Amino acid sequence: MAVVRVRLKLVVTVMMINLFIFILISRNSSRDKSEELKLKIPSKPFWNNLTPSPAFWNRQQQMLDLRNNPILVFRSNTTYLPGWPNDTISSSDPCQANIRVSTQVKDYNSLPERFKDFLLYMHCRSYPILVDQPGICKDQPFLLLAVKSLAPHFDRRQAIRQSWGRAGVMANQTVVTIFLLGDTTAGDHHPDLSEILEYESSRHKDIIQWDYRDSFFNLTVKEVLFLDWIQTRCPGARFIFKGDDDVFVNTYRILDFLKGLSKPKAMDLFVGDVITNAGPHRDKKVKYFVPESMFIGQYPPYAGGGGYLYSGDLAARLHNVSQHVMLYPIDDVYTGMCLRKLGLAPEKHKGFRTFGIEEKYRSNACAYKSLMLVHPRTPQEMIQIWDWLSNPSLSCQ
Ligand SMILES: *[C@@H]1O[C@H](CO)[C@@H](O)[C@H](O)[C@H]1NC(C)=O
Ligand SMILES: *[C@@H]1O[C@H](CO)[C@@H](O)[C@H](O)[C@H]1NC(C)=O
Ligand SMILES: *[C@@H]1O[C@H](CO)[C@@H](O)[C@H](O)[C@H]1NC(C)=O
Ligand SMILES: *[C@@H]1O[C@H](CO)[C@@H](O)[C@H](O)[C@H]1NC(C)=O
Ligand SMILES: *[C@@H]1O[C@H](CO)[C@@H](O)[C@H](O)[C@H]1NC(C)=O
Repeated sequence: MAVVRVRLKLVVTVMMINLFIFILISRNSSRDKSEELKLKIPSKPFWNNLTPSPAFWNRQQQMLDLRNNPILVFRSNTTYLPGWPNDTISSSDPCQANIRVSTQVKDYNSLPERFKDFLLYMHCRSYPILVDQPGICKDQPFLLLAVKSLAPHFDRRQAIRQSWGRAGVMANQTVVTIFLLGDTTAGDHHPDLSEILEYESSRHKDIIQWDYRDSFFNLTVKEVLFLDWIQTRCPGARFIFKGDDDVFVNTYRILDFLKGLSKPKAMDLFVGDVITNAGPHRDKKVKYFVPESMFIGQYPPYAGGGGYLYSGDLAARLHNVSQHVMLYPIDDVYTGMCLRKLGLAPEKHKGFRTFGIEEKYRSNACAYKSLMLVHPRTPQEMIQIWDWLSNPSLSCQ
């Protein structure tokens, strides 16, 4: 009996509490009714107003982002943004020099020539192809080795062909090697090497050349042209190595590494010698100097341009996203910017030695066995190291 009474008490108490809450809520909601029609409008916008950056590149990128913003598509066919400087070129041909930059970049007139050249043609990213190898990827290479070279570097290219860039079947995988060139004969007082280059190209069929001035600040042009090229000529490549013509690449080690990758890891692969927490150099004497009138902010993590390795799958995504990133005068930083836009970051691998190895290991064959890339190496060194590594009797602990 006592138990029943206690339960009854409990039930009654709970009901009383419920009733109390009900009254409280209904009183409140009836009080709200009178205020219901008043809209609550925040006195200030609750998002940050996007203000034009004082730096030219950042501002161009902001405008590109606005134009690619799916919510703001209605603006996509206007040539300017209300309230923003009229920075963009109105000409329908972006490959005409954009002379208006001289008024849009604060200290344009005092900038070194290479910046003026870059700024004038920053909007142009398509140049005619002069030499192509349309069928070079017909066998769907497992690994495409793409080497950034300059026309006069005949000996480096030949050393690469005779060593780490030996195309064909290696370790049971198809390897294709190409050399990426711009034009160095136009202007700049360079000797005309076009006939020798023509011979080299017909002899080896591994030269890709575009009609633009092959300068340091135009390496990003080489990058976007190469991303286009992969999609049209080599979309089946499983993996791509892109690097300079003064590096030694241990192709055996790279193939071994790639074969051991899991499927998901292989899809998003981007490895190299990764630089983090870097920003533009502000010292005019440094090769990588970039003025504040042009770029402000930090660089995203990026893999040093000496050489990095990525998947063909990622190359397709980089190709797409690169159209949403303004050209930047430093090519490896630019690729880092594209990766960042894809929500990815390059991965550091200790096998990539873009800053070299200790002097005492230089002539030690075994020191190279576990590495993927060493920078810098002369043509003679490339052939020597390759001979060491290709010797079946080489045994290392
Ligand atoms: C934008 O382009 C569309 C179709 O291309 C056209 O119908 C529309 O009038 C354009 N709007 C403006 C503001 O130019
Ligand atoms: C920018 O250019 C457009 C078209 O060329 C023009 O209508 C507009 O007034 C210009 N805006 C400014 C701020 O100069
Ligand atoms: C080479 O590849 C083929 C086809 O993928 C395979 O059947 C063969 O076993 C491989 N040989 C070696 C030595 O790995
Ligand atoms: C890049 O190439 C274009 C086309 O040849 C040229 O007009 C421009 O000056 C070059 N830019 C630099 C920075 O050399
Ligand atoms: C690249 O963009 C094209 C056109 O928008 C799209 O069809 C394709 O799926 C995209 N590719 C990748 C890998 O994102």
